[in-house]
Amino acid sequence: SEDQYILAIETSCDETAVAIVKNERELVTNVVASQIESHKRFGGVVPEIASRHHIEQITLTLEEALTQAELTMDEIEAIAVTEGPGLVGALLVGVNAAKALAFAKQKPLVGVHHIAGHIYANRLEKEFQFPLLSLVVSGGHTELILMDEHGSFEVIGETRDDAAGEAYDKVARTLKLPYPGGPHIDKLAQEGEVSIDFPRAWLEDGSYDFSFSGLKSAVINKLHNAKQKNEDIPPQDVAASFQESVVDVLSTKTYQAAKEYDVKQVIVAGGVAANKGLRAALKDKFKEEDCELLIPPLHLCTDNAAMIAAAGAVAYQQGHRAGYDLNANPGLDL
Ligand code: KG4
Ligand code: ZN
Repeated sequence: SEDQYILAIETSCDETAVAIVKNERELVTNVVASQIESHKRFGGVVPEIASRHHIEQITLTLEEALTQAELTMDEIEAIAVTEGPGLVGALLVGVNAAKALAFAKQKPLVGVHHIAGHIYANRLEKEFQFPLLSLVVSGGHTELILMDEHGSFEVIGETRDDAAGEAYDKVARTLKLPYPGGPHIDKLAQEGEVSIDFPRAWLEDGSYDFSFSGLKSAVINKLHNAKQKNEDIPPQDVAASFQESVVDVLSTKTYQAAKEYDVKQVIVAGGVAANKGLRAALKDKFKEEDCELLIPPLHLCTDNAAMIAAAGAVAYQQGHRAGYDLNANPGLDL
């Protein structure tokens, strides 16, 4: 048939994921085997445990994706895989599975950058219009990325210390909330009041860089001091005030960059794009603007392979091919 199916594998962190996308933009199936339960009692992702889970899950997840799609490998055009960044032992499982499959079935192989994937998750919902600005906010990344065409990424700002999701997870831990803490803080914040004036790191004039470690420390210090004085601060107010600081900086800098670069679309990507406060603030900021705001549905915000298939399909169209020497690269540049 004329239809082109790309199968993708993502194992960069704590989700074993396989997805199939049809004709670049149509999601056929998106299977995610989450390991969150196994990492919870350690309060974060344990790399060794992640690798072992990926090894156990990868074949099952692959079979599940093909079964759900009612496709065989013969009908797959190419295989895309996350080559980095991420945990090296976790990435290796996906990369080797993809190479083995590509070799056994004699299919082309395409390596995908995890962040390109987060951005391209949005293309499963809406066609891109360039120039486009993307705010990528996840557990490992906080970046503003400008795109003039497919496959071209210019990082115009990034975090100088903690990623936004990392700050969420660390503050959540201080509040004794389960891992990953982002969604719990988000929920708590809806019930609280912005009663504490936490700092906002605007950095130098005109800079699109971010910094969240000062804010994180301010929250931790506030809770520590309150405890010593036997003072009671409602945790929901801490959550609401912390979230307000994060969201204010993220949404303001995104808005300023969108104006300066006169972009047609602004897209939000990564796990923290699931945040209710951030989604609302961005919708509000851009409601009277010509540029279109795209925020992916929740299941495409957190790690998945559909986004890798979406980015991989474009890379494949552009002629990118990886050889059997493709390797996991934990520090891969965009
Ligand atoms: O993109 P992702 O699934 O994995 C990485 O590539 O890092 O992002 C995970 C991060 C975690 O830090 C998690 O706490 C955060 O996204 N997160 C949220 C929300 N949902 C997930 N942070 C704030 N609010 C949320 N609703
Ligand atoms: Zn991610």
